[in-house]
Amino acid sequence: MELAAFVSNLERLAGEAEQAFGSAHDAASVEQARVQYVGARSGQMKSLQKEMGALAPSDRPIGGKKLNEVKDRIQLALDSAQARLNASSPAVAKGLLLDPTLPGRRIRLGHVHPITQTIDQLKQIMGRLGFGVAEGPEVEDSWHNFVALNIPQDHPARDPLDNFYLSVAGRSAIDGVSENARLLRSQTSTVQIRVMESVPPPIRIISLGRVYRPDEADATHFPMFHQMEGLWIDQNVTMAQLRSILRMFATNYLGSDVSIRFRPSFFPFTEPSVEVDFLWNGNWIEFGGAGMVDPNVLSAVGYDPEQITGLAFGLGVERLCMRRHGVHDIRDLYRNDLRFLHQF
Ligand code: DAH
Repeated sequence: MELAAFVSNLERLAGEAEQAFGSAHDAASVEQARVQYVGARSGQMKSLQKEMGALAPSDRPIGGKKLNEVKDRIQLALDSAQARLNASSPAVAKGLLLDPTLPGRRIRLGHVHPITQTIDQLKQIMGRLGFGVAEGPEVEDSWHNFVALNIPQDHPARDPLDNFYLSVAGRSAIDGVSENARLLRSQTSTVQIRVMESVPPPIRIISLGRVYRPDEADATHFPMFHQMEGLWIDQNVTMAQLRSILRMFATNYLGSDVSIRFRPSFFPFTEPSVEVDFLWNGNWIEFGGAGMVDPNVLSAVGYDPEQITGLAFGLGVERLCMRRHGVHDIRDLYRNDLRFLHQF
């Protein structure tokens, strides 16, 4: 076979293949052209390659070179046909390319927990009534949790079954009733003692924080919850002031002119002691306890009960938050279900 004829056959093939790939607009026609021109079995390239053997031996190097050039041209045409198809097919189905027409993914901002929001609101309201904020540790000793609060050694409130005593220095938690036992505080009244021990009167503080009791969790109990403790120490502090502070607080927090009711009660650290109810949506609801600071407590911190008087109160933070927002199960506050938390 003449070299010139071989070369012109190659050129013609290349031209036809480029034409075919260039006009192929779907995967099927690209594939069809691929089989026709470069298919391993019956492709036209293959048959031309066989014709190489018919060339004179001295023509074969030039013929081979031309053959390789044409192979490259056809491969290039195939590659660009495939690239064109990829670029125009639906990006999402391919999972390959960015589709700028899709809406963006919304990023949710962080959120303040409803109890933290409540604590912030309580601090603001009480701040306007002249109360500063004090803090105390959550791991307490018997002195601050019981003894200085006039809760004697044999008082049922110190029962190991009602407190989270810690086992320290090789002593088991059940020995915890002893004087230097440590425990997770069961009430924020501990902070009353800590503040009075460190500063002289007058004092007007609240303290907001976690307290712990080994209660079975149900709709109204949880082994950890929050209290707001209040303490006002000065000369001539009265029960009437206690009542008006709590009424102003309730009106501010619960949002309307809330009525308040005191029921006689007993707490070791106040005398007299009362339970505090607010009238809320037609029902009297108990929100905590209060009273006039017991002279024994004033003495325990080194104050003179003849000169100094005080009022104190302790309210449940979860209870306030739940009433205000219509939450019926305290456990919802601590399940960390974002569908619940994002409503606040
Ligand atoms: N500490 C009490 C409790 O946890 C609540 C309480 C009652 C606090 C009377 C007070 C108070 O400050 O005066 O049940």
